Amino acid sequence: MDAVVHRGSPLAPGHLQSVVDKVRREGYVHLPGVFDVAEVDELREHVDRIFDEQADSGRILEGWAAVRLFEVDQLFRDIIVREPIIGIAEALCGRTCRLIADSLLRNPPGVAVSNWHVDDTVYFPLPEGAPRHDPRLLPVVHLNVAIPLTDIPSVEYGPTQLVPGSHRSGSDPNDADQPTFEGHGAVSMISKRGDIYMHSNQVWHRGAPNESDRTRYFFQLIYGPAWVAQRFYTDINYAIPDHVLDGADEQLLRVLGKPILGVGS
Ligand SMILES: [Fe+2]
Repeated sequence: MDAVVHRGSPLAPGHLQSVVDKVRREGYVHLPGVFDVAEVDELREHVDRIFDEQADSGRILEGWAAVRLFEVDQLFRDIIVREPIIGIAEALCGRTCRLIADSLLRNPPGVAVSNWHVDDTVYFPLPEGAPRHDPRLLPVVHLNVAIPLTDIPSVEYGPTQLVPGSHRSGSDPNDADQPTFEGHGAVSMISKRGDIYMHSNQVWHRGAPNESDRTRYFFQLIYGPAWVAQRFYTDINYAIPDHVLDGADEQLLRVLGKPILGVGS
């Protein structure tokens, strides 16, 4: 592979701290205008090519999801260490921050993961009578970074919806249709392409049903500290192919899983 193409710009320290504080406190943050529209449109064109060329590769799931895009497309490899994404991920997950997984959803109208949920399971359940976790004590185990590749101008286009603060609940969503946490109902991640948003995977969330006539393109990177197992779906004994590592700098190697000596792995 050639050298890294886009690196972006890190957030100024004060802005970075405000983003970190918001994710810890409310479980999510929405950042407008991180990518140029032209760059997003190029990514979307690459997605269509990947779906066409990789149909029989095992990386296309159910016909509308794709995984391990970094193996087959340099843009999707280099975006892993794009700023300000990686700087925020490292600030929240620590200096051993790694990519845990990636996924691309190209869901046509009517197709979505629309049930309210936390990913995996509730990592830190609270006993009866304990109202909430203190966000200062709650680690970010998985940070989901969403990069919509199509505009999501209203609810009918199928935005991610999430309940602010619910990562502190220590429980599953408290209602199947309209969960609320401490007086807050769901917010919708209404977005223009170029925006990104991030959330703890412990926030109650879902993809609202796509009721528009437009296919929704949605790319997601999941980061976590090195003590979280990477999950490059779907192969047991998965190993990153050598060509992905060609030309990768130290930061990308580390985020893909190279240990830092003396810091643990
Ligand atoms: Fe989820």
